[in-house]
Amino acid sequence: MKALVLAGGKGTRLRPLTYTIPKQLVPVANRPIIHYVMDQIAGVGIRDVGVIISPDTGSQIKEALAENPWRFNFSFILQEEPRGLAHAVMVARDFLGSDPFLMYLGDNLIGQGIEAFVEEFRQSKPEAMILLKEVADPRMFGVAEVDCDGKIRRLVEKPKVPPSNLALVGIYLFSPFIHEAVLEITPSFRGELEITDAIQKLLDRGKTVRSFILERWWLDTGKKDDLLEANRVVLDELVRESLQGEVDGGSRVAGRVFLARGARIEGSTVRGPAVIGKGTIVRNSFIGPYTSIGNGCVVEGSALEHAVILDGARIAGIARLEDSVVGRNAVISKGSQNSQALRLMVGDDAEVLL
Ligand code: DAU
Repeated sequence: MKALVLAGGKGTRLRPLTYTIPKQLVPVANRPIIHYVMDQIAGVGIRDVGVIISPDTGSQIKEALAENPWRFNFSFILQEEPRGLAHAVMVARDFLGSDPFLMYLGDNLIGQGIEAFVEEFRQSKPEAMILLKEVADPRMFGVAEVDCDGKIRRLVEKPKVPPSNLALVGIYLFSPFIHEAVLEITPSFRGELEITDAIQKLLDRGKTVRSFILERWWLDTGKKDDLLEANRVVLDELVRESLQGEVDGGSRVAGRVFLARGARIEGSTVRGPAVIGKGTIVRNSFIGPYTSIGNGCVVEGSALEHAVILDGARIAGIARLEDSVVGRNAVISKGSQNSQALRLMVGDDAEVLL
């Protein structure tokens, strides 16, 4: 079995972060989302991994995977334009050959391994298998209509009136038969060749499509609050205490805190779960739970909580910053004590709530 990871596309929802970082590389607990995807693929013993990349962000994706601790045989496959998930399957046709494959959207994060899902596919050999999750508002997803014994009747992409609350998680298993189905579909209302429509074609032809319900969490890191929630859940579940950096005598570190090599905590309190990246300096500050601070940041005279701070950012003199995402190399600092004026240089699509 091979794996196909989709890391192309546009990524407009997480703007402004995604002006400079592809959404698959947005960090959650200081690791790019795509690394969690690769962990999952390694967990089911797949070795050959095709990665769909776009002309704009392909080099960044390649760089993020260059270390390759999973020892995969990577094939990077260029998709010239983001013409849909089924189009990505067409572009990967030569790589996939006649093998069954796991298709994984590179921006999906789930809270459990995919061993049981893959095992069921290996045992029962359906034409396709989809992963479903109950969600409150399924309108922005693919949605499955399922009958009382769990058999799939119909699939619809982004329905205005959803037939159920079972959304398609972006993780699929296919037999080579899918290559015929993707040739039969036409572009959807959003102008894309939808994999959901290709799976519907399999159903129309009487092929077996099985579903598997995801019990634990699934996070679609589409928006700021989703990203903060993903960060909270991952910090809660995955961070183990490890202090590889320096903590001076005037500081207190409590709870599960990962302090990377070269990071320094001076005169500060850090309360986990939290991660602090390489070379970051935290001085005279309070870092509260559910905070991820990237590499090479400086936090001085500030209090942060439930926040994601990307590499190279500088935060100084901020009494309380919470529920916030701060982009790479951004600077947030308070000027003279008595000035009420705000002096801002705010990038496109930024959000400042005072
Ligand atoms: O996240 C789950 C949802 O993903 C499913 O419920 C939907 O059925 C499925 O269509 C998909 O919907 P999205 O609108 O969220 O897909 P998005 O355009 O965000 O693309 C998903 C990933 O695939 C993302 O990492 C970018 C990549 N991609 C996307 C397109 C359209 C490509 O590599 N090539 C493409 O042409």
